[in-house]
Amino acid sequence: MSNAAPAKQRDRGNRALHTFYVECQVRPDVQPNVRNLIQVAGTALTSQPVLHKDRVYNQPEELAHPLVDQLTRVRVWCPTLGNAPSWPTQFAQLDFVIYHPHTTEAAAELDEEGTTTLFHTTTLPHARFDGLWSSLAFEESVPDRVLRFMTTVWQFAHNDVDSDVVTNNRFVLLHGPPGTGKTTLCRALAQRWAVGLQPSHRLAAGKESGNNQGPAGVVSALPVYLCEINSHALFSKWFSESGKLVAQAFSKLQELAEAGPVLVLIDEVESLATSRAQSAARGNEPSDAVRVVNSVLTELDKLKYLPNVMVLATSNLTRCIDEALLDRADLSLYIGLPSPRAIRRILESCIVELGRQGLLCSLGPPFSPGSDPAVAGDHPTPELVAAVNLCQGLSGRAIRKLPIRAFARLSRPTPITVTEFLITLTSEAEEMSRARRPAETFPDVGLTPE
Ligand SMILES: Nc1ncnc2c1ncn2[C@@H]1O[C@H](COP(=O)(O)OP(=O)(O)O)[C@@H](O)[C@H]1O
Ligand SMILES: [Mg+2]
Repeated sequence: MSNAAPAKQRDRGNRALHTFYVECQVRPDVQPNVRNLIQVAGTALTSQPVLHKDRVYNQPEELAHPLVDQLTRVRVWCPTLGNAPSWPTQFAQLDFVIYHPHTTEAAAELDEEGTTTLFHTTTLPHARFDGLWSSLAFEESVPDRVLRFMTTVWQFAHNDVDSDVVTNNRFVLLHGPPGTGKTTLCRALAQRWAVGLQPSHRLAAGKESGNNQGPAGVVSALPVYLCEINSHALFSKWFSESGKLVAQAFSKLQELAEAGPVLVLIDEVESLATSRAQSAARGNEPSDAVRVVNSVLTELDKLKYLPNVMVLATSNLTRCIDEALLDRADLSLYIGLPSPRAIRRILESCIVELGRQGLLCSLGPPFSPGSDPAVAGDHPTPELVAAVNLCQGLSGRAIRKLPIRAFARLSRPTPITVTEFLITLTSEAEEMSRARRPAETFPDVGLTPE
């Protein structure tokens, strides 16, 4: 499994031998021969002098073999490389994960009365979540850090490390201002994690060996479930019933965990777990708020004994969350507004997309189709620099709204030039920044929603 402990060994020459995970997504209509595929993709990769630390091949022809046509994407990555951007292929070992993406829509799980949706279940890896990971621009360490954490927590739970000795609540909290990509990151993490849980095959010295449970040479799948709890729905509709609904939701999650690993996403957890002290201070009916928080805490405590369940929660208002819940998070990470580097990546991704759709013309080298803006060009144009500067202080969600505003403002036949686009987008960013409410400018937790 690629979620197993990252392997870093040494060869005889004492050069580190790194394991690269090769995650191959097979076209849904294809049932390939896994052995063939591994041999072919393995040969294509090992014929390259170096392997990049994390690279996605979206075009099969990039791997230059017709068999690779059976794949929709290949991600090659190595978690142990540290700061090195690439590694000589001769000192790399390849671990293959071959999987089919699921395509069925999320299923709603209703309460006993059939009136309230407790959560939505998506079977992972899912085609809809493809590309989410690469669409997010964070300081590099953030998504990797959470993914590594999830992997480690899982290993500990499945190695039966006594959680009374080494605390393992399997509960991660991402918090920060709204629109900073927390919910999207959770889905992207879920997808990467689910891919990593699929059976793997090692290719060493041209010979494949694996822990594939299915018939030899055929793709075998382990269903992983992402259950998204809508905190607002559970809380608002039947206020005094929320405690019961929470208990029902968790008991259904428990049933599901018997079928496969379950990742629970509690989005905007503050709606369910508002601080008991604060509700009392506001003079709200304290018993309801207390009941629902108690229910969430009790259910989370029970999860300790369900190694197949892990919880990711997000919050825009950490200050309002009950202390006892915050205390249970094994990892609580602040996700802030995008840095200038991240803003540049977001803008570049918009430019590449608009260029691809023919709405922008004259795409120069850093933006030409097929180029990876994340690594291209250290020489941004003055218009891009100005746009990045004016976008500082805006959330990722706000920045992604700017292109449409720029096109609407220009109201000109398309395509337009990148320069024109960026100049107009900068004016829009300036206007958006001016219109922001003062509370949104604090680089701190507990911001008011957009
Ligand atoms: N750091 C980022 N990089 C790229 N896109 C981002 C980023 N932050 C937010 N976005 C965009 O904003 C949208 C909203 O993000 P979301 O995950 O709902 O934020 P949050 O849950 O923090 O409110 C996403 O679809 C994403 O495209
Ligand atoms: Mg969100």
